[in-house]
Amino acid sequence: MSRAWSFDRFGLEHLRLVEVDEPAPGPGQVTLAVTACSVNYRDTLMVAGQYDPRMPLPLVPLSDGVGRVVAVGEGVDRVAVGDRVAATFAPRWIAGEPERSIVRLSRGGPLPGMLAERRTLDAEGVVKVPEHLTDEEAATLPCAALTAWSSLVTEGNVTAGSTVLVQGTGGVSLFALQLGKLLGARVMITSSSDEKLERARALGADATLNYRTTPEWGRPAAKWAGDGVDLVVEVGGAKTFEESLKAVRMGGIVSLIGNLSGSTAPVPLTRILMSQVRVQGILVGHRAGFEAMNRALAAHPTVHPVVDRVFAFEEAPEALRHLRSGDHFGKVVIRVA
Ligand SMILES: NC(=O)c1ccc[n+]([C@@H]2O[C@H](COP(=O)([O-])OP(=O)(O)OC[C@H]3O[C@@H](n4cnc5c(N)ncnc54)[C@H](OP(=O)(O)O)[C@@H]3O)[C@@H](O)[C@H]2O)c1
Repeated sequence: MSRAWSFDRFGLEHLRLVEVDEPAPGPGQVTLAVTACSVNYRDTLMVAGQYDPRMPLPLVPLSDGVGRVVAVGEGVDRVAVGDRVAATFAPRWIAGEPERSIVRLSRGGPLPGMLAERRTLDAEGVVKVPEHLTDEEAATLPCAALTAWSSLVTEGNVTAGSTVLVQGTGGVSLFALQLGKLLGARVMITSSSDEKLERARALGADATLNYRTTPEWGRPAAKWAGDGVDLVVEVGGAKTFEESLKAVRMGGIVSLIGNLSGSTAPVPLTRILMSQVRVQGILVGHRAGFEAMNRALAAHPTVHPVVDRVFAFEEAPEALRHLRSGDHFGKVVIRVA
């Protein structure tokens, strides 16, 4: 028997530590001894019933986890016992265009999540993680880092000399800052906190803007880049989209990732049309993108994910509460073993 966190009714107060009998790996499967998980904003919505109130329960939460392979089933040759791997967010999305039936099967809802001591998974849905990262750091990669990578690289054409505007200092955004710098881009970042902006500068941000004191940051951002930034990493949603359209250059990209300030807003269609802007939705990313990102990180061993705080396995509900508070800078992690 091993332990897992599970909820059978929506609400953080219903998250319970339960004993589970994780099966031995069947053909094509691997069993992981999970060592660390990370929390994403989506996980907090999932537990609260705000992501999909019809999500089938009970559910083990959290899409992101890393572990050691402790057993492999028949026919597995991608990984071996002893390898350190991360579970991928949408385990059947290997590469190429997204397909609804494949991408909707994501971990932490509707598929069981990673907040467990042992998990038996299809071997196709795991990837080896860069050696220079600790387990706690590697556990931050599957959702937030890959989303930033997909935004900048897979769908974004960001390269040396590009200009990128990143919103806020949460998990996805700090990865977008770090990966943008790794790619040679110039990066401007916004935050509600001057202290967080100082920390973002220390991570390499070229320019900063406080979106509380400068709520109309779109034009100053465009001016900073010359005549608009090449790409905006849009996590704010309803209350930031219009500023993003002011910030982006003609022919640039607004990478639509999150909706922290709401998911419905009037859309300035004429501005999109007249500036030939591409609004690019991003849904995390595929395994091939994860592997490409890991190669990039392995080639830059000085780059480490920003871990705000590590909670013990028994403190998992506290970790979700901390993320929801918005006090964090970067990723919130749970050490499992
Ligand atoms: N589409 C996808 O594939 C995908 C993948 C991952 C995440 N997401 C979404 O992306 C968003 C961010 O996720 P996350 O896990 O990075 O969240 P997170 O770590 O909780 O980040 C939250 C941070 O965003 C900033 N923020 C909040 N409201 C803002 C606003 N109105 N304008 C600008 N920044 C704002 C704040 O930064 P400051 O404290 O610095 O102000 C806050 O700390 C969420 O909506 C999430 O659901 C989508």
